[in-house]
Amino acid sequence: MGPSSRALAEQMVAPIPLTGDPVVVELGPGTGAFTEVIQRRLAGRGTHLAVELNQGWAADLGHRYPGVESVCDSARRVPELLAERGLGKADVVVSGLPWVAHAPVDGVPLVRVLAEVMAPEGAFTQFAYTWTRWAPPARRQHADLRATFEETVVSRTVWRNLPPAVVYLARRPHPA
Ligand SMILES: C[S@@+](CC[C@H](N)C(=O)[O-])C[C@H]1O[C@@H](n2cnc3c(N)ncnc32)[C@H](O)[C@@H]1O
Repeated sequence: MGPSSRALAEQMVAPIPLTGDPVVVELGPGTGAFTEVIQRRLAGRGTHLAVELNQGWAADLGHRYPGVESVCDSARRVPELLAERGLGKADVVVSGLPWVAHAPVDGVPLVRVLAEVMAPEGAFTQFAYTWTRWAPPARRQHADLRATFEETVVSRTVWRNLPPAVVYLARRPHPA
């Protein structure tokens, strides 16, 4: 099950700047609902690194989108993946990950790991189905975002999405 509406995808990619060569990291692209919209917004600029745990989906994405570097790996390895490619800091991270992927490892939540390799003005987006919002993993994730970024906002419900969903937008990571 993936996010379905264009309205949701547009909100997810809105922090990608329309000028320059941003480094965009897409996490858990799955079947690619956001991938195409990111590619359209980049229009050949910058770098689009997609990190997907499922080997088949990662390979399929690479074939469908030659402009995307699709890697089969864990989102936890984003720091190494950026460093190996000499990409520097990520300007925008677009996440389709399930809540479980954000769970702390040795007390460190995934967003803290990502914040270490994000630009000072960097932005992170995550979608969530509305009905999951008040469950403990979602509340923990919201708290982690607020602890990690200067600003965290939750969008209005996108009712056109099936199921209805919201977008978490977090900007400007705090230094470690
Ligand atoms: C809800 S689906 C993604 C929805 C997606 N936008 C789509 O259109 O299909 C979540 C995706 O995250 C991937 N995933 C889960 N844990 C991950 C991790 N730790 N690192 C990278 N990808 C992960 C899953 O394999 C799955 O493809």
